[in-house]
Amino acid sequence: MKLHPVISEEQIRRRIPELASQIRSDYAGRELTIIGAMKGSLFFLVDLIRNLDRPVCVDLISVSSYRWTATTGKPEIQMPVSIDLRGRHVLIVDDVLDTGLTLGHVLCHVRERGAESVGVCVLLIKKVPRTVDIEADYGGFELDGEFVVGYGLDLDGAHRDLPYIAAVETDQNNPC
Ligand code: IMP
Ligand code: MG
Repeated sequence: MKLHPVISEEQIRRRIPELASQIRSDYAGRELTIIGAMKGSLFFLVDLIRNLDRPVCVDLISVSSYRWTATTGKPEIQMPVSIDLRGRHVLIVDDVLDTGLTLGHVLCHVRERGAESVGVCVLLIKKVPRTVDIEADYGGFELDGEFVVGYGLDLDGAHRDLPYIAAVETDQNNPC
């Protein structure tokens, strides 16, 4: 397996303040609740919140749908939100919008809990057909369909610690 850097640390460092500034302006005058989808969004979530430079309420949700590089197609909420969302303006922060299955599931979870408004912010948007018709209100970078790791994103738990984002090139004859 080989890793090819596709988004550098510097690109990430520059893009996050731009996203934060857009969000700060869109939510001006409103209380904002950010829900981070664990675990892939963790690095992005923290950097985004630091750059927002305004008060926010933060909660986490844990959702998992991936094994190796293929989706199981069945997102599972392993840890639901822990706060009352009724009447809140919620921004869901996730790492990747791919098929849309995961975010679709999280969106339902948040809407069912009575949020006043729900926005979506993702670090990466994959240019692939969606299984669930979801659009991100804020997106850091667009990618083709390649599987990527780093900056919080993992492959079976590995490579989250990379400071940049790299595409994974798997050797079909040797998946180890
Ligand atoms: P979706 O449900 O197909 O949209 O996939 C979204 C979730 O799958 C993300 O929140 C990630 O956790 C995971 N995922 C999708 N693509 C990648 C990738 O390239 N690398 C790591 N995780 C990914
Ligand atoms: Mg995720």
